Amino acid sequence: MIHLKTGREINKIRCAGAIVAETLELLKRSIVPGMTTGELDLLAERAIRQAGAEPSFKGYDGYSHCICTSVNHQLAHGIPGPYRLEEGDIISIDIGARYEGFHADSAWTYPVGEISEITGRLLEATSEALRCGIAEAVPGARLTNISHAVQQCAESYGFSVVRELTGHGVGSELHEEPEVPNYGAAGHGPVLKPGMVLAVEPLINEGRRDIWMVEDDGWTIETQDGKYGAHDEHTLVVTENGNEILTKQ
Ligand code: MF3
Ligand code: CO
Repeated sequence: MIHLKTGREINKIRCAGAIVAETLELLKRSIVPGMTTGELDLLAERAIRQAGAEPSFKGYDGYSHCICTSVNHQLAHGIPGPYRLEEGDIISIDIGARYEGFHADSAWTYPVGEISEITGRLLEATSEALRCGIAEAVPGARLTNISHAVQQCAESYGFSVVRELTGHGVGSELHEEPEVPNYGAAGHGPVLKPGMVLAVEPLINEGRRDIWMVEDDGWTIETQDGKYGAHDEHTLVVTENGNEILTKQ
């Protein structure tokens, strides 16, 4: 069942979203070659708690950190730790916060110093695919209009769309119905209504779309071909006349 949120609930998600956005902004400013992904996690936890919220990911399915940090060919759910960022890396930071019982979820992929031209295009394609998907999240539209727009946009750059991971509803649970795929034909799935809160999160690969999980940590998802992948995500609410992004930096 898709839970339509009340105005009060949306306000809480809006607060959670602002905390998520401010924390991502802080992390973005903090990124320098030589720092570890574990240091970013500590910064995030402090910022989220100081703002009066809790990190949504900590304890989720036994996950032990506040953020996911996925570097280069790591696509998603990378675990923060001793890895030191290097010039030319890209790092996706995925973060969630819960405020008065309601979550917001966002991710962004940042360059570390100077990156190659093709990697720059991958980041551009991913944020553009997110933008195109969000533009379809309007009342009366069908859910997979979002999916189709994301795929079209990413593939128009010559990149590939990961199938196995999807966006999702957000609310008192971090992951609620419906799933929001990043590919497929338009015109299917539920009709979007004001009060639906969705996380749209394209995961785009420079090379082939195939991914696998790093077995020994049970979390990190990497591209199979070793080429880079990127991941951007916003939480939005469908409104009477369009949508509002709740995690805008
Ligand atoms: N934001 C991630 C997603 O929606 C959730 C990460 S799950 C965690 O896919 F356990 F790593 F927190
Ligand atoms: Co998400």
